[in-house]
Amino acid sequence: MDSSFPIKDTIYDYYVDPGQRCFMPWDAKLSDNWKYNENEPFYKIIVPTVDTVRYEYLVSKMLQDGYPVLLVGNVGTGKTSTAVSVMESCDNTKYTVLSINISAQTTAAGLQESIENRTEKRTKTHFVPIGGKRMICFMDDFNMPAKDTYGSQPPLELIRQWIDYKYWFNRRTQQKIYVVNALVMAGMGPPGGGRQEISSRTMSRFYLLNLTFPTETVIMRIFGSMLKQKLLIFSNEIREMWHSITAATINLYNDVIVRMLPTPTKSHYLFNLRDISKVFQGLLRASSESQVKKAQFLRLWIHECFRVFSDRLVDDFDLGWFLDEMNAVFGRYMEVTFHSLCPNKMSPIFGDFMSMQGYYEDLDFAKLR
Ligand SMILES: Nc1ncnc2c1ncn2[C@@H]1O[C@H](COP(=O)(O)OP(=O)(O)OP(=O)(O)O)[C@@H](O)[C@H]1O
Ligand SMILES: [Mg+2]
Repeated sequence: MDSSFPIKDTIYDYYVDPGQRCFMPWDAKLSDNWKYNENEPFYKIIVPTVDTVRYEYLVSKMLQDGYPVLLVGNVGTGKTSTAVSVMESCDNTKYTVLSINISAQTTAAGLQESIENRTEKRTKTHFVPIGGKRMICFMDDFNMPAKDTYGSQPPLELIRQWIDYKYWFNRRTQQKIYVVNALVMAGMGPPGGGRQEISSRTMSRFYLLNLTFPTETVIMRIFGSMLKQKLLIFSNEIREMWHSITAATINLYNDVIVRMLPTPTKSHYLFNLRDISKVFQGLLRASSESQVKKAQFLRLWIHECFRVFSDRLVDDFDLGWFLDEMNAVFGRYMEVTFHSLCPNKMSPIFGDFMSMQGYYEDLDFAKLR
C-alpha cells in the first residue's frame, strides 16, 4: 500500500480501505440518494454525513472489541444523534440497546436496577442480557449526577467499577453480581449548567471521542437533503427553493451567533445546531395543499426564523437588528424582498388549529382576534 498520506484535506478525512489497499475519503461511504422515512417523527431523522459515518465506524469498532466509548462535545454537536445512529446500525439479532438518560437525581442503585432489569439471571451471580444478545448501554448526559459529600458521583463510580471488575454487588446480600456481555457508551457535554467535571479515574476507562460542530457542508447536507426530499411533491417554483432556503438559514444562523452574544442580562442568547434544526422541523410541516406559491412558502420560512431566533431576543435594539438582518439575507439569497412579503414588518403567524384538515397554514391576524 502507498504509505504517503493524501495531500488534500486532513488525515481525519480518510480511512484505510483494506480491500483496495489505499486511503479512501469518508464521503465515499455516503450514498447520494439517501431518503428519510416520511412517517418517522422529526427527531428520529438522522441524515448520514461524513461525521456520522466516521464516528459510527469508530464507535462500533470500539464497542465490538469491548472498549467503553465516551462521546464528548459542546451542546448540540450531535452526540446523542451519533449514539442513536450507531445503535440503529447495529445488527439487532446480535445486539439489544438500553438507553438511559442520566440526570442529577440518578442514583447508583437506580442505575444498577435499570441495567439489571434488562438482564436475565443465569445464576445468582451471573446476569446476561435478555435473548442471549450483547447489550449496548448508552448513558446520555453522563456527567449530570450530583456530587456527594466526598466529591464523587456514585452512579459513575458504579460504572467505573463495572468496567474494571465486571461486577457489582447485590445490595441486600453483598454477593458479587457479574453482568456480562454488556458494552458501555456514554455522552456528555462540557461542565457547567448542572453538568459536573467527572473524575479523571472514571474518564480514563473510556475511549474518548470529541465531536466538533459540523462544518457548513455537513449542515448543508443534513438539512438540504431533508428539505429537498420534502419539496419533491410541491409545485415547481417551490421545489427549486430548497438550496437557497438552506443556505439562507445557515447564513442567518452564522450572523446571529456572531452578533447576539450571551451577556449577564441576556444569558439565554445561546444558539446551536438545534435551532437550525427547529427551523427545518417547521418547514417540514408544510403541505403542498396550502403552500402553492413561492411567496407562501417563503412566509412560512420567515415565520420559522422569527419563532426560533427573533422570539428569543429581548430588547428593541436586537429585534430591530434581526429585521435588518432578514432584509439583508433576503437580498443575498432570494429574488424577492422581505418587505414585499411582510409589508408591515410583522412576521406571519402559522398554526395548524384553524383548518379542519390540520394544515400548518398562514393565519389571518384579524380572524385570530
Ligand atoms: N446527522 C444528523 N442528521 C439529522 N439531524 C442531526 C444530525 N446531527 C445533528 N442533528 C441535529 O442536531 C441537533 C443536535 O444534535 P444532538 O441532540 O445529537 O446534540 P447533542 O450533542 O446530544 O446535544 P446536547 O449536548 O444538548 O445533548 C438535533 O436537533 C439533531 O436533530
Ligand atoms: Mg444529547
